[in-house]
Amino acid sequence: MGITSDGSCRAVRSLSVVSIESPAGLSTHGCDAGDEPLLLRACRGEHVERVPVWFMRQAGRSLPEYRDVRKRADLFEICRTPELAAEVTLQPVRRLDVDAAILFSDITLPLAAAGIDLAIVAGVGPVIAEPIRSAADLRRLRPFDPDRDAPYVAETVRIAVAELDRPLIGFAGGPFTLASYLIEGGPSKTHARTRQMMYGEPLLWRRLLDALADIAIASLRSQITAGAQAVQIFDSWVGVLNPDSYRDFVLPSARRIFSGIADLGVPRIHFGVGTGELLPLLAAAGADVVGVDWRVPLERARARLGAEIALQGNLDPALCLAPWEVLAERVTAVLDRGGNTGHIFNLGHGVLPETSPDALRRIVEHVREHGASRQATADVEWDALGV
Ligand code: CP3
Repeated sequence: MGITSDGSCRAVRSLSVVSIESPAGLSTHGCDAGDEPLLLRACRGEHVERVPVWFMRQAGRSLPEYRDVRKRADLFEICRTPELAAEVTLQPVRRLDVDAAILFSDITLPLAAAGIDLAIVAGVGPVIAEPIRSAADLRRLRPFDPDRDAPYVAETVRIAVAELDRPLIGFAGGPFTLASYLIEGGPSKTHARTRQMMYGEPLLWRRLLDALADIAIASLRSQITAGAQAVQIFDSWVGVLNPDSYRDFVLPSARRIFSGIADLGVPRIHFGVGTGELLPLLAAAGADVVGVDWRVPLERARARLGAEIALQGNLDPALCLAPWEVLAERVTAVLDRGGNTGHIFNLGHGVLPETSPDALRRIVEHVREHGASRQATADVEWDALGV
């Protein structure tokens, strides 16, 4: 495999002509020895010749080829069929030429595999038949053994990694976010019952979060062993907490997850939405990279986190729906703010389903062209920006 003039790994050979029936047509080349992929170097906080780019939720409904697969199988059926899940994992790499693949699965899948009656309901999200609200309910959440309960996940990783010439990111749900689905019984705007248990029944809360941390550790260790080269913990909804509550009620379990996979040596990304005030705590959990949503200017995140932690983000996902001139200017602004040292370009949250794949493809090209040799913007007071 060649390394291009900008140092990136060459796209996999003939990716675009490969069908589900003949995945073996994909190249099995990896990066040349000694040339660690851009994504991994950026995760380690290194200065890179070009900012790497991938998108949270890059596989899924924004891609017509995913919608085609989805006609034949529902989300969990895809996840439980390694050939299909690997195919869907590779789709955005082919079409968008992003610098990393992310495993196709769902944060709630290990819960279903650990005994929870859970469905993904169209237009709603994950719905749990019998929410967990007492110590007796908690018994329904069995310990999770990936080899026994969800062997198809590691198999998906193995198939996808064999086809890829760039890193595959594994992932797990963060403890607050999974606890919220289990306690509320489905998506919630206020997370009121969740916070009620957290404040009112701290011992039960702690047991639940520790059980969820153990599920995440088992799942991530299995994905890494199968070949995932980086992992992301999605604690998507934890931004509803203030720093004191996060520190007292979530940080111990988050630390448990990060330290539970530390020996495996892969970069660990920690992400949540609306977490501007929590960024230092997300890092303190043990992350190498902190995901930043679109509300926080990257230089502000850098000032809060210091130079040791890499940043991932943070284009507003809704900008992908804007005219290209508007979008391009904002992509450049993210590159300017993030700089080339320890920055991974991404959206500030997942790709919206109505996003055109062409917009995503143009973003990747724009990052390739403009993501070289940038100095991060220094943090400045907002007054100095004239606002
Ligand atoms: O490229 C990828 O990121 C795809 C793999 C992936 C999925 N879910 C597949 C999926 C990943 C990384 C996730 C993570 C996930 N799942 C998160 C964290 C990321 C975030 O967005 O904050 C969360 C909170 C969930 C829970 C979940 N699963 C929700 C809220 C939904 C409904 C979303 C919707 O828009 O309807 C799901 C279903 C789901 N997971 C879909 C996909 C592609 C869409 C449903 C479908 O195809 O039937």
